[in-house]
Amino acid sequence: MTLYLIGIGLSTEKDITVKGLEIVKKCDKVYLESYTSLLQCSVSDLETFYDKEIVIANREITEQGDEKIIAEAQEKDIAFLIIGDVFSATTHVQLFKLAKEKNVSVKVINNASVLTAVGVTGLELYKFGKVTSIPFIEDHPNLETPYNVLKDNGDLHTLFLLDLKPAEDKFMTVNVALEILGKIESKKKEGLINDDLLVVGCARLGCDNFIVKAGKLSEIRAFDFGGPLHCLIIPGKMHFVEEEMMELWSD
Ligand SMILES: C[S@@+](CC[C@H](N)C(=O)[O-])C[C@H]1O[C@@H](n2cnc3c(N)ncnc32)[C@H](O)[C@@H]1O
Repeated sequence: MTLYLIGIGLSTEKDITVKGLEIVKKCDKVYLESYTSLLQCSVSDLETFYDKEIVIANREITEQGDEKIIAEAQEKDIAFLIIGDVFSATTHVQLFKLAKEKNVSVKVINNASVLTAVGVTGLELYKFGKVTSIPFIEDHPNLETPYNVLKDNGDLHTLFLLDLKPAEDKFMTVNVALEILGKIESKKKEGLINDDLLVVGCARLGCDNFIVKAGKLSEIRAFDFGGPLHCLIIPGKMHFVEEEMMELWSD
């Protein structure tokens, strides 16, 4: 019996790989982790496409109930679906590790992730520095980390993943992310964030209606990126091809 950790991609029910779909169809129980990301389709769209009932794994089930899932995988084939790719939110490493420690067979089926989908911007993936996230400021009023990461990344590009609370239908926009960085700048006054800074806002990467918009912070601040999910990039030093891509996305 096996625990399958399956990435289901970024867009709709059809983004699962053929291999992933074949495994889901033969599994005895299917969990969906839905608190670290969001698809552009509903859970019932997934259930219809897979022809399987889905159990929603909320933060409590996965972070405290890992043991339960592992115990189930000793008896049955269990699929654990992750939006995007499997290990691009660290939470799931615990599940994998626990399975290994308990000698439970565990297999990983990879898929696309926001971490690679940002390649469409034209910014070279191997020139990104540390990825950081921007939490809702009301939860972290003394927030400085994303600002410090931007500073430490120096000439490298910085990807900011934005906070989300799917259970409350709350998703941070690029606009709010820029506002939060501006608030940190006004406290730290190190001159990293200013109206002329080149920033790249991305929405719904990997989906048919994705948006990439590059421009000065003063322009992007008011740009409407539409529905979730959004992320933000602040480019570092660019090659001329990267600069040309920025021009392409600034129209
Ligand atoms: C914790 S990450 C989840 C990563 C996911 N497991 C993956 O592999 O893509 C969630 C954050 O990444 C960003 N994100 C995820 N998917 C995105 C997409 N398709 N377009 C833009 N941003 C996205 C958003 O900022 C979102 O709040």
